[in-house]
Amino acid sequence: MMLVFFLLTIILEGCWGTEGCLEQERSALLRLKHDFFNDPFNLENWVDDENHSDCCKWEGVECNTSTGRVKALYLSSKRQFLYSTAGQLNASLLTPFQQLETLHLDSNNIAGFVENGGLERLSGLSKLKLLNLGRNLFNNSIFSSLAGLSSLRTLSLGYNRLKGSIDVKELDSLSNLNVLDMGMNEIEDFSVRPKDYSSLRRLHALVLDDVTIRDGSKFFQAMGSFPSLKTLSLQFSNFTGTVNSQETLDNFTNLEDLTLDYSSLHISILKSIAAFTSLKRLSIQNGRFDFKSFLLIISLCRLGHLQELHMGGNDLRGTLPCLYLNQLTGNISSSPLIHLTSIERLFLSYNQFQIPFSLEPFFNLSKLKVFSGEFNEIYVEPESSHSTTPKFQLESVSLSGSDIHATFPKFLYNQHDLELVDFSDSNLKGEFPNWLLKNNPNLSTLVLRNNSLSGPFQTPIQPHWHLDALHVSKNFFQGNIPLEIGVYFPSVFKFV
Ligand SMILES: *[C@@H]1O[C@H](CO)[C@@H](O)[C@H](O)[C@H]1NC(C)=O
Ligand SMILES: *[C@@H]1O[C@H](CO)[C@@H](O)[C@H](O)[C@H]1NC(C)=O
Ligand SMILES: *[C@@H]1O[C@H](CO)[C@@H](O)[C@H](O)[C@H]1NC(C)=O
Ligand SMILES: *[C@@H]1O[C@H](CO)[C@@H](O)[C@H](O)[C@H]1NC(C)=O
Ligand SMILES: *[C@@H]1O[C@H](CO)[C@@H](O)[C@H](O)[C@H]1NC(C)=O
Ligand SMILES: *[C@@H]1O[C@H](CO)[C@@H](O)[C@H](O)[C@H]1NC(C)=O
Ligand SMILES: *[C@@H]1O[C@H](CO)[C@@H](O)[C@H](O)[C@H]1NC(C)=O
Ligand SMILES: *[C@@H]1O[C@H](CO)[C@@H](O)[C@H](O)[C@H]1NC(C)=O
Ligand SMILES: *[C@@H]1O[C@H](CO)[C@@H](O)[C@H](O)[C@H]1NC(C)=O
Ligand SMILES: *[C@@H]1O[C@H](CO)[C@@H](O)[C@H](O)[C@H]1NC(C)=O
Repeated sequence: MMLVFFLLTIILEGCWGTEGCLEQERSALLRLKHDFFNDPFNLENWVDDENHSDCCKWEGVECNTSTGRVKALYLSSKRQFLYSTAGQLNASLLTPFQQLETLHLDSNNIAGFVENGGLERLSGLSKLKLLNLGRNLFNNSIFSSLAGLSSLRTLSLGYNRLKGSIDVKELDSLSNLNVLDMGMNEIEDFSVRPKDYSSLRRLHALVLDDVTIRDGSKFFQAMGSFPSLKTLSLQFSNFTGTVNSQETLDNFTNLEDLTLDYSSLHISILKSIAAFTSLKRLSIQNGRFDFKSFLLIISLCRLGHLQELHMGGNDLRGTLPCLYLNQLTGNISSSPLIHLTSIERLFLSYNQFQIPFSLEPFFNLSKLKVFSGEFNEIYVEPESSHSTTPKFQLESVSLSGSDIHATFPKFLYNQHDLELVDFSDSNLKGEFPNWLLKNNPNLSTLVLRNNSLSGPFQTPIQPHWHLDALHVSKNFFQGNIPLEIGVYFPSVFKFV
């Protein structure tokens, strides 16, 4: 019996599976084009020709190869040029696509779904997992249209006309939603009622860029009621309120990735962020933070899982009143940064940190792989008597743009995994560091432009196969670049 069924399946698939798309779906696509995407310069091969072409091969259409059913429609920017007016999409045109899993309708000037056009019919798309409605003209009434899509995993509503206060209750039925993007709208508040709140339990990524948050307490309380939330993006957000009670954050134990670039945050919110003890990645680039508020976050020292910290472009000068640690200044040696022992990548560029060229304060950060410290106040310490070696093996180090006036730092001698080294514009003295190439077989980019390196340009002791960018201009090398250089750096394409 099993065998017969199996054979039958093969025969059925053999007969129809490879014949292309279902007639019903083919004509639905043609109607969709006729009624909505009727821009003659788009979807040109969606035609009802005498050869009855296979719609699975049409632009933007993807079928399941064994069933021939449409499973994905990529219809981004298909009507925007000629038809710049707002459009109303008749949702019932989509109902034939019962097996649809992915639907991209972004950038099409869609203002809504036509009245009586079957909003409820959207719920017939019972397999739909990804719905991209970004860059359209949807207003808050879209939420009721989406109510039936309980299979949805990813929903993008970024760059639309959502306004004012959003009540998460409207999304209650989307119980399988993992990723929700509502950024770049005019959302001013985001409210939930934690007490009776039970949906969006699977939400793990939420993008709310460019929102204005009036009541920070309420907002974080709302966030805390998503038990699976791991990633939260609040770029360009404007927090006008304050966070008063620490208890609001008690349930906030899963957040791993927080992006606050270009956000204006009240200091009380920064304090609260320190309570997100599970954070692994924090990005607060180009914020309006001063050193005091920044260290307030970090110095609470509870971010024990942090692996990645981006904080370029802030004005981090000044001093900080004592928290746990002693008096803190812009001197990195006494900052709590050096206790973030899980950190893998530190991006400190364009600040005013005082960082010793030896990088000694970071020696205990055994997981550190990327150190980026361009344009800070790099200073050289007097020669240390005790010779400690770093616990890290860096893959990338850049300390360009500071007038360092020293020879290559000693910690570099112990590094073997380096792939990128940038010490440009640093007034470094000494000879071309042959040993750096020898010790680091994977080094691919070496930037030493604009220093005071001198001596004859030495040809490395052995050929180096991985180096593909070597910048050594504006130094005091004597003599000519040896002709054999191509032998020694066979893959260098930039030698400038
Ligand atoms: C239909 O198929 C025939 C033979 O393959 C071909 O010559 C003709 O150009 C096709 N017509 C269209 C509209 O593609
Ligand atoms: C195609 O459809 C069949 C039947 O629904 C399903 O088992 C299979 O996983 C699908 N294949 C792909 C690649 O989605
Ligand atoms: C929201 O969009 C719907 C559908 O286009 C429209 O009928 C309604 O008037 C809009 N509401 C507001 C407040 O603009
Ligand atoms: C929407 O499409 C359905 C099915 O094709 C049709 O019956 C209905 O009249 C359309 N509604 C509007 C408002 O065009
Ligand atoms: C933040 O929002 C407040 C209140 O709406 C407004 O006055 C202020 O200008 C906004 N700040 C920024 C940077 O957008
Ligand atoms: C934290 O979670 C518990 C149990 O789910 C709940 O009773 C409590 O109200 C939540 N606290 C906040 C501040 O949301
Ligand atoms: C920074 O602090 C360290 C240790 O506290 C100290 O040795 C060093 O001189 C300080 N550097 C500057 C530039 O203040
Ligand atoms: C690194 O750790 C060792 C042992 O735990 C400690 O003695 C030393 O002071 C630490 N160094 C720095 C720079 O924190
Ligand atoms: C060089 O790179 C290769 C491939 O990424 C890696 O397996 C190897 O361990 C690296 N060698 C060193 C010395 O880092
Ligand atoms: C070279 O580096 C110095 C700092 O050491 C800097 O002041 C100068 O502007 C740089 N010159 C060029 C041409 O980039």
